Amino acid sequence: MTRDLIGLAGLDTDQIRRLLVDARAMAARPPMWRGPLDDMLIGLVFLEDSTRTRVSFEIAAQRLGGWTIELSGRGSSVAKGESLADTVRTIEALGVDAIVLRARQDGAAEEAAGVLECPLINAGAGTQEHPTQGLLDAYVFAEAHGRLDTFDLSGLTYAIVGDVDHSRVARSDIAAMTRFGARVICVGPESMCHASIADLGCVVERDFERALQAADAVQMLRMQFERHEEAGPTGASPLIGSLADYRAGYALTADRVKHMKPSAAVMHPGPANRGLEIDDFVADSPRALIRRQVTCGVWVRMAVLAQLVGKG
Ligand code: NCD
Repeated sequence: MTRDLIGLAGLDTDQIRRLLVDARAMAARPPMWRGPLDDMLIGLVFLEDSTRTRVSFEIAAQRLGGWTIELSGRGSSVAKGESLADTVRTIEALGVDAIVLRARQDGAAEEAAGVLECPLINAGAGTQEHPTQGLLDAYVFAEAHGRLDTFDLSGLTYAIVGDVDHSRVARSDIAAMTRFGARVICVGPESMCHASIADLGCVVERDFERALQAADAVQMLRMQFERHEEAGPTGASPLIGSLADYRAGYALTADRVKHMKPSAAVMHPGPANRGLEIDDFVADSPRALIRRQVTCGVWVRMAVLAQLVGKG
């Protein structure tokens, strides 16, 4: 494996499985397991907002014995117009052993990896990939259906619902789930779930109820208003028409959950727009694995940092 992690689509199935197997081992370890990152410094360059991903990379690095420094767009020279390449090279020159990058623009992870000597881990770039999210979602889906022994997801259906076109989570989830044999259904209106997403190996479905009946897990995506041109401050967007129309077609409400199999899980990468794509009743129900996704994210990121950056 190269020492960069740009996306899951670029990894083979064995490489992805090895990361998941190591994540499973991390889950079984005591919380403060020092070792692979002892005395190493990880630069967390988060040029877009983040709660879960940023904090879990920070915890993951520290649990492996490493240190972290953080740079955000606000308050840094990025706000003065410094380029991505200059920003990451500056952080590298300050002495970090690896950079974890979140950035708004497509291609940011490749661009940064191209100018760095140290490993680069993509923590979400533009609409393209969010590989550690794809890994943690595969982990949680496998766990929910008793597949943690092999991570084989064959015979299972995973539905991804909502603003698929703007979602880097959707792309990494499709790469991860299809690699382990799951059938992936992308669901949403044409304005945000274009038929061409099927080129990635999933099927496109416009009828949410039909997808719910088939699914063994439903990943509800956040409406990415910040990526919709002309989105208004109230959340109205030309892509969804009125919020009421969108909810009528694609919100996971208490009524809609009744279409799901009893064993099917509800997932959301967070942050959720409660009352838009998902209702409180569903997000707080026993079948919701949203906080489990967060917990497993630490183990996955420990596995990634240990394999790509760690010593031995
Ligand atoms: C996602 C992201 O930033 O891509 N969040 C996350 O990392 N858990 C999803 C989103 O912002 O909607």
